[in-house]
Amino acid sequence: MGLVSLEQMCKKAYENGYAVGQFNINNLEWTKAVLLTAEEQKSPVILGVSEGAAKYMTGYKVVVEMVKAMLESLKITVPVAIHLDHGTYEGAKLAIEAGFSSIMFDGSHYPIAENVEKTKELVALTRKLGLSIEAEVGSIGGEEDGVVGMGEVADPNECKSINDLGVTILAAGIGNIHGKYPANWQGLNFDVLQKIHDVTLGTPLVLHGGTGIPDDMVKKAISMGVSKINVNTECQLVFAEATRKYIEAGKDLEGKGFDPRKLLAPGVEAIKQSVRVKMALFGSVNKA
Ligand code: 13P
Repeated sequence: MGLVSLEQMCKKAYENGYAVGQFNINNLEWTKAVLLTAEEQKSPVILGVSEGAAKYMTGYKVVVEMVKAMLESLKITVPVAIHLDHGTYEGAKLAIEAGFSSIMFDGSHYPIAENVEKTKELVALTRKLGLSIEAEVGSIGGEEDGVVGMGEVADPNECKSINDLGVTILAAGIGNIHGKYPANWQGLNFDVLQKIHDVTLGTPLVLHGGTGIPDDMVKKAISMGVSKINVNTECQLVFAEATRKYIEAGKDLEGKGFDPRKLLAPGVEAIKQSVRVKMALFGSVNKA
């Protein structure tokens, strides 16, 4: 199966009470780890690519060509989407040109009228091309690509305005943040999530900041319309930890242990294990 948009994938999840994981990728190892695990678990999967990660991988086109070639060489049969994560207005257009099957336009930092205008234009463009679009209301806190958000709770009326433009899926701040949650974190705001769900009925919702949210909160959010959950930091943390252990155990100094194919292997296995656990928690196993 080639690349797909989020349209069917997230609608099916929404209607059947589970969520599809978006796992952000950074390089070939990340991509391979996520794709192989999705195939092993027979789960649909979304490869998230931030503008910074695309730049790191030397461009949108490189990402698209790498993923397409990998789907073929690894004989991946489950549905896979390449989704721009927190795209700017300009970045969204570039990702579409390069062949992304889905984009997120994050206009949450604009005044609502401007967010509506820009989202509307990109909805029309993506619809024409058969792609999917995620929009955002209320910035997600924490730090991503050097941008620090305040962790707002979205205004349900603004969510309705953006939702009514015909977006495929909607991300709304409900106290979730990117990166590690601080010890004094208040948890997800389910009252606001319920209000947002009520005014956007039929539209799958997105939960950003999927690293470190307690399992019971994740399950409750899924039962309230969340059908896509983004995970990034967790894979980075487990990759770094496994790599550190390998080096601290002196394994890079044994034989050909310095070979990157050996040095990076424990990190890849750690990502696979995290992705497996998340897919089971989100309920997407055997839903391909
Ligand atoms: P985490 O890095 O907290 O897992 O969040 C990922 C995310 O929401 C990407 O948009």
